[in-house]
Amino acid sequence: MEKDFWHERWQRNEIGFHRDTVHPALEKHWSAVSRDEPGPVLVPLCGKSLDMHWLARQGHKVVGVELDPGAVKAFFGEAGLAPDVDETGPLTSYSAGDITLFAGDFFDFDPPGRFDLVYDRAALIALPARMRPRYLAHLATLLQPGARGMLITLEYPQACMAGPPFSVLPEELKEVREFAFDCLARNDVLEAHPRFADKGLPWLNEAEYLLTSR
Ligand SMILES: C[S@@+](CC[C@H](N)C(=O)[O-])C[C@H]1O[C@@H](n2cnc3c(N)ncnc32)[C@H](O)[C@@H]1O
Repeated sequence: MEKDFWHERWQRNEIGFHRDTVHPALEKHWSAVSRDEPGPVLVPLCGKSLDMHWLARQGHKVVGVELDPGAVKAFFGEAGLAPDVDETGPLTSYSAGDITLFAGDFFDFDPPGRFDLVYDRAALIALPARMRPRYLAHLATLLQPGARGMLITLEYPQACMAGPPFSVLPEELKEVREFAFDCLARNDVLEAHPRFADKGLPWLNEAEYLLTSR
């Protein structure tokens, strides 16, 4: 996707992907996924997700990366937080408490250390098929071998709707060299997302995976 596409989505507040509550799959599976390891969690393409506050409440430092600076400012502003801002690197960092969000292009994100934990909800599926291999390859460079995390995808017949969100099927994940994906749950979510039913989707699943870096 072009960067302008996402900036426009944020400027127009067309952010149907944003949840007003913590994702139930995160609450359900995170303890097992993380094995209760307390380390920092990388949240790529993080938007202003409330899941990051939940992860911080579990004792993690949280590092998010988000293209749109307005989204980053909204994340802190809506939480009543005044972050410290550092504009010295290629991405501008905003930090408050245990949460640091980097505003800029994920593909330019090159921190000094590697992460043991990652949380991807609506990041991989935000990208078209031709960009997903590059995303996964870059993500792998940011993680330690053996790093664990959670991936949440949507599955639907792609021909019935133009993304984003894009449909990412298990067959595609099986071909990914950098990661192993073990399905934790798959739920029919069409009724819960009437905006997709309105677009003519005959079925829609949400799949939750344990991701392990090879
Ligand atoms: C579908 S939204 C999901 C946001 C968040 N993960 C959530 O669950 O609410 C995808 C987000 O990725 C951001 N994004 C798209 N391309 C990006 C890139 N190259 N680098 C960083 N963020 C990007 C968009 O601005 C958007 O906020």
